Amino acid sequence: MSHLFEFSYHNPTQIHFGPNSFAKLGELIPAGAKVLLLYGGGSIKRNGVYDQVTQALAGFAWVEFSGVEANPTLETLNRAVAVVREQKLDFILAVGGGSVCDGAKFIAAATLYDGDGWDIVSGSHLVQAALPVGVVLTLAATGSESNAGAVVTRAATQQKKVFFAEPTRPRFAILNPEVLASLPDRQLENGLVDAFVHACEQYLTYPVGALVQDGYAEAVLRALKTLAETFDQRRSSEWLQNLMWSANQALCGIFAVGVPLDWATHRMAVELTALYGIDHGRTLSILQPALLRETIEAKRAKLEQMGRQVFGLAEPSAEACIEAIEALYRSVNMPLHLRDTGVADTQAASRVMQALRDHGNAALGGHAGLDEAKTERIITAACAL
Ligand code: NZQ
Ligand code: ZN
Repeated sequence: MSHLFEFSYHNPTQIHFGPNSFAKLGELIPAGAKVLLLYGGGSIKRNGVYDQVTQALAGFAWVEFSGVEANPTLETLNRAVAVVREQKLDFILAVGGGSVCDGAKFIAAATLYDGDGWDIVSGSHLVQAALPVGVVLTLAATGSESNAGAVVTRAATQQKKVFFAEPTRPRFAILNPEVLASLPDRQLENGLVDAFVHACEQYLTYPVGALVQDGYAEAVLRALKTLAETFDQRRSSEWLQNLMWSANQALCGIFAVGVPLDWATHRMAVELTALYGIDHGRTLSILQPALLRETIEAKRAKLEQMGRQVFGLAEPSAEACIEAIEALYRSVNMPLHLRDTGVADTQAASRVMQALRDHGNAALGGHAGLDEAKTERIITAACAL
């Protein structure tokens, strides 16, 4: 049966890219806005970004809130919401990576909601309105700077969950690759692999004759593969600007339109961060190969296509494609099993399974028909010590 695309597409985030993009910041924030400057643990103070941003804010009333953690918590973000309300701020400027962007989205929505902020994350409150958000991106990985998703962790219950809220999609994002220079290698590795898996989750399902979407996903995957192959050049401007643009394009929504998606790796991977504090990118390289092996029949045609179009394999079998993906992750020092991260919990597989059950994600279904037995085999392969 033919597959007919049906979608609405609108991505209104204005992107300003390049070494001179900071100069735009002052004009992008609405005149008269009262700004919350939101950032993380202080990397922006060490690399000069804080100074550049505060100069641009000279004409505005602004208040800062720092300490948004990697994998931001509801508890911290609620404190920021209180500041925004108290000071009657009306614009949220995120300066940081995916965690700060996601935190800004939550704050923007929660400020205008009277109930418990977790309702937004759990989906029991559908966000209709949010304060405007702008982003100065300092880490290339998530694509959060121009999408409508955000991931928040409730520390009290160790729950990490994504929500989508169109009104929180950033109005603008400043992407200056020069700011990536201060990132440690570990974050470049994470970013490259996070973006790679984002492209996979929107591509590795089954063929529906989506020439543009497939072609575009393959272009981004090939770019990321090239960045892995040239990882020794990672400190060059050319390498960094390609990472920044690839990671943005991988999750701005452009190649998800009208095609089947399978976000199973991401949906399971959150538990590894919630339980063991593992970086998001690393949770993906741990789980995805095991997931692809378990679902290989459902994904065979697309894995073969990826083997041919992305890895240029002479004999592009699905098995060989999974091996090529693993080799790529290994080449940028990413773990392929929970044990590679130093976690020494002999109960890890059963803990992760229990968390998936508790959060209703032990049988995600989807085109590969993930039931609890399949999920358990994936988790055992990736996490059993
Ligand atoms: O907090 P600071 O001091 O700024 O340090 C950060 C943080 O420790 C540091 N960093 C950021 N920019 C830097 C820098 N260090 C030196 N120089 C710079 N220029 O890097 C560390 C990690 O930052 P974080 O923002 O946590 O990383 P990332 O961008 O990978 O974001 C991860 C979060 O995004 C979520 C993840 O689940 C995780 O919570 N995701 C969000 C998505 C979305 N909204 O679309 C999709 C993703 O799949 C992902 O789930
Ligand atoms: Zn991700």
